Amino acid sequence: MEPSVYQFPSIFRRVHMEQPGEIEQETDFLKQVWRRHLKKPVRRVLDIASGDSPHGQILAREGMRVVGIDRSPTMIAAGKKHSREDAGVRFYRREINKFSLPERPFDVAFFMSETFPVLISNTDLLSHLHCVGRLLRRGGLYCVDIDKMDRIRIVRERKRWQRRKVRTDDAMVEVTTYDRPFQWYAPIQSIFELECRIRFRARPDDVVTTRDIIPIRYTTPPFLELAAKASHMFELIAVYTDLSMVTPLEQCDRRWLGVLQKV
Ligand SMILES: C[S@@+](CC[C@H](N)C(=O)[O-])C[C@H]1O[C@@H](n2cnc3c(N)ncnc32)[C@H](O)[C@@H]1O
Repeated sequence: MEPSVYQFPSIFRRVHMEQPGEIEQETDFLKQVWRRHLKKPVRRVLDIASGDSPHGQILAREGMRVVGIDRSPTMIAAGKKHSREDAGVRFYRREINKFSLPERPFDVAFFMSETFPVLISNTDLLSHLHCVGRLLRRGGLYCVDIDKMDRIRIVRERKRWQRRKVRTDDAMVEVTTYDRPFQWYAPIQSIFELECRIRFRARPDDVVTTRDIIPIRYTTPPFLELAAKASHMFELIAVYTDLSMVTPLEQCDRRWLGVLQKV
């Protein structure tokens, strides 16, 4: 089986076209949201599908207690490298659809990088919300960052969508994305395939090909509101767009943040 690009933490960020300073802006925005919707200061933070927890690393340096969960041992190992023993992020290897942690309740949880729509089935989605809800104190917030999905691409057979080249400090990467077909009755609205051909500068004759096949459930604010209600754990209390406290949904360009509160 071909490896996943998430086994190469230094590469996936560039592949996802992350801009310099983006993580810092996102972390600042989360803090603004917490200040607006929580009465008490935030001390305990849970990072869902944390990867190496770049947001968590910043918050931990500011004195918060941060715990990250992710299924990828490589991402967790990269995160542990950045973390100081005494004041870093604590990681647990977990699947996001069903997990528990030997931890005291958290004030807030967040799920960044527009990964929430990988929770496909109703069972997984509700189980996920239960697991997060059980770990939050009452009134605690769960902030979920989601892509603006305004174009369903229906294809009859696997079809190339985009192609680009990306340079990182240690590699050249040819990125090709594909759309894959799916059944009309499936709970998903696209299957996104991400292929990366990686040529490391240290070994230019070797090419590593990664392939990730990512089914995506079309997630809009009313759908998140419904899922929150169905979980009996959360209520959707706010929606923000493009890291702004004021831009209305009609003017959303790229992404939105759903704010769920534990009931
Ligand atoms: C795009 S990365 C984002 C990482 C981090 N939140 C960030 O902002 O850099 C997505 C992460 O989700 C993790 N992931 C995807 N599906 C998962 C699942 N079902 N259970 C646990 N982790 C998962 C991957 O291992 C990867 O580290």
